[in-house]
Amino acid sequence: MPHAAITGWGQAVPERILTNHDLAAMVDTSDEWIVSRTGIRERRVVGESDSTTSLATAAAREALARAGRTAADIDLIVVGTATPDDFLVSQACLVQAELGGNAGAFDVGAACAGFVTALSVGSQFINAGVYQRVLVIGVDTLTRYVDYTDRSTCVLFGDGAGAVVIEATDEERGLLSTVLGADGAGHKHLYVPGWGALVPESADLFPEYRPYLQMNGKEVFKFAVQVMGEAALDAVSKAGIDFSDVKMLIPHQANLRIIDSAARRLELPREKVWVNLDRFGNTSAASVPMALTEAANANALQEGDNVVLVAFGAGLAWAAGVVRWGVAGVHQPSTAITQPENHS
Ligand code: ACO
Repeated sequence: MPHAAITGWGQAVPERILTNHDLAAMVDTSDEWIVSRTGIRERRVVGESDSTTSLATAAAREALARAGRTAADIDLIVVGTATPDDFLVSQACLVQAELGGNAGAFDVGAACAGFVTALSVGSQFINAGVYQRVLVIGVDTLTRYVDYTDRSTCVLFGDGAGAVVIEATDEERGLLSTVLGADGAGHKHLYVPGWGALVPESADLFPEYRPYLQMNGKEVFKFAVQVMGEAALDAVSKAGIDFSDVKMLIPHQANLRIIDSAARRLELPREKVWVNLDRFGNTSAASVPMALTEAANANALQEGDNVVLVAFGAGLAWAAGVVRWGVAGVHQPSTAITQPENHS
């Protein structure tokens, strides 16, 4: 069976920075509360010239350049997102319109678990021998749906995109295991009322109605602490490796307390857990590929390393997997970037 090695990676964030101090001037909160309860210090927020498409395209271009590929080399584009720029046209098609090519293109809806889910979908097209090269993107611009008068949600979210190119190889590289799960009954704990085909009565009553994200933080927190650890453990066991063989945990960046509890379940010290939520907050489907890109660019991942990816989000849904890092067995073009770059 062909495996699906990660050969390129990239990320993009908007320029605009929103700090905890900025938020403290907008709602009744403080830098101290936000840092101690979440670990977040600042986040990036889309401006007028940004869009889900612009961020996803920039991340994809970086991933393609790193892999030494162009859009014409890609057989399939899979995007994990909960904030597509259009509801009829897939976000993957909008990205393709920018990149060029005629690859198959579709989206996966699993909120913050969107990238890991999309990676498992894309990898399986390669495992099945159907395709050779797939572009997988995780992107979200959730701040467009954040109520900046609601202190319990507005401190959490930021915007961004991350992308990887995966390619067929006969060596054991890429996703070694996949764990997907959902508790659909929990959908009511995290959703955007009126954001979809089901229009609420309030839309008639209040024509200016704008959908905002609603969250039961305590319920989501309990759910996340439970599933992050369990899904990560399951992914490690399904990959047939030991905890001691795990080089790095790359978790969804929602809350440092949730990340720490997952790391404890895997008995991993903090230095083996990639954390960047202090600078980006919760970027939803972008958080795992952005963290993966940072770790790779910092040269923290070497050929053959086992990396655990785990994410949870609205649905309530979760996704985890073990990735074996490296490009062994992939016929790489000479244009592939081999030196790490500094992308802050
Ligand atoms: N600043 C100051 N006080 C606040 C703030 C704030 N920003 N937000 C809430 N509070 C207050 C509350 O009103 C409450 O006050 P009260 O006791 O007087 O009622 C108090 O702080 C404690 O509130 P809790 O909700 O108990 O705080 P908690 O420690 O649970 O932290 C948090 C809240 C950070 C939201 C946490 O529950 C959490 O991280 N939950 C998970 C959220 C998450 O990860 N969501 C994203 C999922 S991914 C996706 O798909 C989009």
